[in-house]
Amino acid sequence: MKTLTDTFKLSNGYEIPCVGFGTWQTPSGEVCIDSIVKAVECGYRHIDTAAVYGNEKSVGDAIKSCQVKREELFITSKVWNSERGYETTLAAFEKTMSDLKLDYLDLYLIHWPASAYRFENWEEINLNTWRAMTELYKSGRIKAIGVSNFLPHHMDALMKTEIKPMVNQIEYHPGQTQNETVEYCKRNGIVVEAWSPLGTGRMLTNETLIEIAKKYNVSVAQLCIRFCLQNGVLPLPKSVTPSRIKENADVFSFEISAADMAEINAMEYFAGSGLDPDTEDF
Ligand code: A2P
Repeated sequence: MKTLTDTFKLSNGYEIPCVGFGTWQTPSGEVCIDSIVKAVECGYRHIDTAAVYGNEKSVGDAIKSCQVKREELFITSKVWNSERGYETTLAAFEKTMSDLKLDYLDLYLIHWPASAYRFENWEEINLNTWRAMTELYKSGRIKAIGVSNFLPHHMDALMKTEIKPMVNQIEYHPGQTQNETVEYCKRNGIVVEAWSPLGTGRMLTNETLIEIAKKYNVSVAQLCIRFCLQNGVLPLPKSVTPSRIKENADVFSFEISAADMAEINAMEYFAGSGLDPDTEDF
């Protein structure tokens, strides 16, 4: 990957720009609009939002006001837990499309798996949601579909359906690389995306990462974003600060050595959201 517009190819051939602009915890309104407009100015072409973030209307406003054609942008959203199931997912999709003011979506994800901790029929619930996603995909209103926060056992049933997930967006950063899930995805042709590639900022004070970043004369944020790319994972860094938005886009002029990659890959868990898809259901 050499620029923000280089792409990963999904299993259906659709291409996804290799760094996405995250909007989790970005408040709606001017902050959201301005940060997305700035990101597009800096070269990002991939924007990641979700119904539950509460900022889809502002993301839609930003798309309208930025200087790039809709077709040049890659827009992702997600169906939230309260809308799981067939009819509810179809309705949630319409609301998302109306808030985003779009007539097609590039990628739609099931935001969080229904799991055995809360539901006896968790697998059936996920399959019903998936059936709606599949139908929307086949109708052409979504270019690609996938999941988020799914562990291998959550994906198993979906892998047996006609259209298989093309993406899994998971928490991924140094100390939390979810190797088993990533291996499963790679084996099954599923592109892995990293939410919170900076550990929602928690990575930035880690001494090991600070030392490694110094060697390359980059920030820990840039190191973490580059770390994802070199592991074949698509990072979705979030920022509402113009200087950081620009900094996070500048990750193509250095390469982390194999030894440093190995050291970061071997780091034990030290910080993260602590959210476990098997036991957390919000
Ligand atoms: P802000 O949005 O106020 O600029 P993640 O992408 O892992 O969720 O991390 C997002 C958090 O990290 C936000 O709090 C964001 O702050 C902060 N952040 C993003 N980029 C940088 C950067 N380059 N340097 C320092 N903090 C950053």
